[in-house]
Amino acid sequence: MKKKITVIGTGYVGLVSAVGLAGIGHEVTAVDNNKTRIKDLKKGWVPFYEPGLKKKMKDALRAGRIHFTSESDLAVQSGEIIFIAVGTPSAAGGKADLSQINAVVDVIIENLESSKIIVIKSTVPPGTTDAIRERMSAELEYTDSDVVFCPEFLREGTAVHDFFHPDRIVIGSDSKQAARIVENVFYPAISRDIPVLNCSPVSAELIKYGSNVMLASRIAVINELAELSEAVGGDICQAAAGIGLDKRIGKDFLKAGPGFGGSCFGKDVAGIIKAGEYHGVNMQLVSTILTTNDSQKMRPARRLETELGSLKGRKVAVLGLAFKADTDDVRGSAAFDVIDYLIENGAQVKAHDPEAEYRFIIEYKKKGYSCCEKKEDALSKADALIILTDWEEYKELEPEKLSQMMRGNTIVDSRNILDHELFSQYGFTCMGTGRRTVSSSVKNRGRNDLLNAAIVSV
Ligand code: UDX
Ligand code: UDX
Repeated sequence: MKKKITVIGTGYVGLVSAVGLAGIGHEVTAVDNNKTRIKDLKKGWVPFYEPGLKKKMKDALRAGRIHFTSESDLAVQSGEIIFIAVGTPSAAGGKADLSQINAVVDVIIENLESSKIIVIKSTVPPGTTDAIRERMSAELEYTDSDVVFCPEFLREGTAVHDFFHPDRIVIGSDSKQAARIVENVFYPAISRDIPVLNCSPVSAELIKYGSNVMLASRIAVINELAELSEAVGGDICQAAAGIGLDKRIGKDFLKAGPGFGGSCFGKDVAGIIKAGEYHGVNMQLVSTILTTNDSQKMRPARRLETELGSLKGRKVAVLGLAFKADTDDVRGSAAFDVIDYLIENGAQVKAHDPEAEYRFIIEYKKKGYSCCEKKEDALSKADALIILTDWEEYKELEPEKLSQMMRGNTIVDSRNILDHELFSQYGFTCMGTGRRTVSSSVKNRGRNDLLNAAIVSV
């Protein structure tokens, strides 16, 4: 049944959720206190790169099923169901910062004129939903308003797909009626075959945090195994394939790389550790996920330094600034750590990313590097190449063309996206993550040696 839904927060989660709900057929009012963002959204401009979102948003605007406003009071009054999808970033020390959530709850309490269902989408520490519900019961005359926690599991780059094809719908509510209303919001667009888990709000909060902690731990473990694999001459891609054949482990999320980035894993792992501390639980195993992951981000630069002997004076092309492919988000990207290391050790860096360049330039203030419009400009006359993001266009790099563009022959392929044997036939020495170095064929082997001599003589 179509509902009038208000979504507060038009970030990576709020905007996708609002557009998705409008796509299902609901009448959606999307609210944001960033007036510039609302102005852009009204023109059909999406404030970040998310494949498929712009078209869906324009369809919803054309159909008159989505409205954007900064008037949160009116939006609260008009919505039957109110989704909260504002930011819950890490505060100092890793604790989840709930100031945006609390500000929105203030607005809801001030403007609630009838019983409504409040659905929290933002990731909040265990116990938050219950605390908000208790506050609303204490401060509101409409005490039968319900507060439900309905976590999102959207991945950047596939968020629109993930909205319509979730692995599960989790509804944390102590009211069966409210849970049913929230569940029905997703039908008929989302298949009734998708499992729905009704549970308490605090269990739903644990599901959200627990999912991200489990996913983050897999990556930290496979990357640590990759380091061992390099030391013993193994191939982590083969090892991951074999590990993943165990149905209890599964094949997904076992790709070794430069460490996980993004706005969620780091934030949510730190957040659950703090929640543990608050409740007197020492999450010591979970605590190692972040330290392990942080140490992995620098490794591509260190491996290049070991291979070349020194980074001083080297021209290094860095392909990939986004924390993963198909997004322009650079939050937590290994590019910050790698470019820092290269610059600090005397390399000259030319970077490229199909979508994330402008966000990286805003965030990364240090001198000593430049961003190139085209990857060919970064690669031209480069002594070495480091690949950090698994963009499709980097997978399509051709060895012959690359050997004509670059001056040196060393590639650190931190995402294992190239065919190292093939590239070695064109004179390249390739170093993957968790794999043996594949050295260049003899005929071109000397390129780096000549280069070494040239640099030393300068
Ligand atoms: C958010 C949470 O940070 C994350 O924990 C959760 O997993 C998903 O939802 P995200 O959508 O990336 O993630 O947040 P962000 O991109 O920061 O967008 C939040 C939006 O809310 C911003 O556009 C901000 O302007 C807006 N906002 C914030 C309001 O409209 N009102 C407020 O009071 C505060
Ligand atoms: C993650 C969760 O997947 C999603 O369910 C949650 O709602 C938000 O956080 P996101 O961070 O957008 O989504 O992307 P994801 O695809 O999970 O990748 C996170 C990081 O892990 C990226 O840096 C990615 O490159 C890395 N990764 C992922 C690996 O290094 N190896 C893998 O096998 C998978």
